[in-house]
Amino acid sequence: MAGLGSRTVGKAFDAVTTEHVQLRALRDEIAALLAARPDRRWRKTLAARLQELSGRLAGHFALEEKAGLFEDLEEALPEASRECARLRADHPWLLAHLEDLRDRLAPEPKGGSEAIKASLRTFLEELARHEERENALLTQAAEDDELGAVD
Ligand SMILES: [Fe+2]
Repeated sequence: MAGLGSRTVGKAFDAVTTEHVQLRALRDEIAALLAARPDRRWRKTLAARLQELSGRLAGHFALEEKAGLFEDLEEALPEASRECARLRADHPWLLAHLEDLRDRLAPEPKGGSEAIKASLRTFLEELARHEERENALLTQAAEDDELGAVD
């Protein structure tokens, strides 16, 4: 079977999985802010972390797309082509959704802080699921690649 090949395993795979770990740390940081009781600095601190997440996500998605990650995954796992298409389509949607939430937070949380907290928690869960689905495909493709190398 077609494996991932050294191109993806050696370059994009490591970079993407490293960024997934870093993004998870930032997601955890934002989740902790959402669990905290809002004080005077809460909105500004949260807005700053969301700005950071927005920039890092845009860079991360661009890395995955420019590296041809989904094309390589489709080649390695033809049965996952629909899942790859869904993951690719998630990218612009996730970025637009995050921008919308950032707009709702400034200058004052529209609908109150509890409403924006709930929306942000849902967003973080959706983002986590997206990255987990990518990780699952990457792991499967890498395992298949290793099996292929043994043959
Ligand atoms: Fe990703």
